[in-house]
Amino acid sequence: MLVSAKDMLNKAREGKYAVGQFNINNLEWTKAILLTAQKLGSPVILGVSEGAAKYMCGFKTVTEMVKAMDESLGITVPVALHLDHGTYDGCYKCIKAGFTSIMFDGSHFPIEENVAKTTELVHVAHQLGLSIEAEVGAIGGEEDGVVGKGECADPQECKQIADLGVDFLAAGIGNIHGVYPENWEGLSFDTLSDINQTVGDMPLVLHGGTGIPDEQIKKAISLGVAKINVNTECQLVFAEATRGYIEAGKDQQGKGFDPRKLLAPGFDAICAKVEEKMNLFGSVGKA
Ligand code: 13P
Repeated sequence: MLVSAKDMLNKAREGKYAVGQFNINNLEWTKAILLTAQKLGSPVILGVSEGAAKYMCGFKTVTEMVKAMDESLGITVPVALHLDHGTYDGCYKCIKAGFTSIMFDGSHFPIEENVAKTTELVHVAHQLGLSIEAEVGAIGGEEDGVVGKGECADPQECKQIADLGVDFLAAGIGNIHGVYPENWEGLSFDTLSDINQTVGDMPLVLHGGTGIPDEQIKKAISLGVAKINVNTECQLVFAEATRGYIEAGKDQQGKGFDPRKLLAPGFDAICAKVEEKMNLFGSVGKA
């Protein structure tokens, strides 16, 4: 059954481990992540960006696919279906489509507007039993590669947003989406410590999980991070494994490629990557 992410993240924060959010882009990714979570007895969050939802024919299609797959695969570990970096309109669409969790990314609005919109969405989400994540201090993207540093959130602004009743909070601590540039300075643990002390027990979220060294991941978990988002790393292993299959010219026995076999190595690669991350994050056996 699909559940809100609130309880799983409160437990993670208390137990000093993190639940992985793995973004889904198609049926194979979804199946790989669900089966791996079940095999390892780990709670899991399926992240869906608005772009990925558009690709998969909309939020309703995604919800129906995930619900049906969860049931037909006999998944018993807690699974949250979560909107990643939602716009204001995207949040409402997901609420209507049956998602169990949303992220409202108001980090690009002035703080007053972020506060007003977050307040409204917290109210609506909680009335319907969904969990909600908010963001303070934008998380850098690829264009930040030359800067070598992601933005750091202001702890007071974090407190202001946390106090609105969000269930978990993403705060920029020098993290960047995508592959980290060579000159990246690493996570700012001073900022993370300050935020952790300022917001109390709130589970914190680390975006840009791809390529952060294991020791930094563990230290971040010790300082209140209870949810870690991974996407690019799965994309890289999926592309690599699938390309290998095509380049090797396998399965051409006069019939061309069987698409199910074509994507099978990518599926296996996602399973292995998710298993590696769940072990690193400490969520194995915590379902
Ligand atoms: P990466 O693509 O860097 O792993 O980040 C994923 C993410 O933070 C999604 O919100």
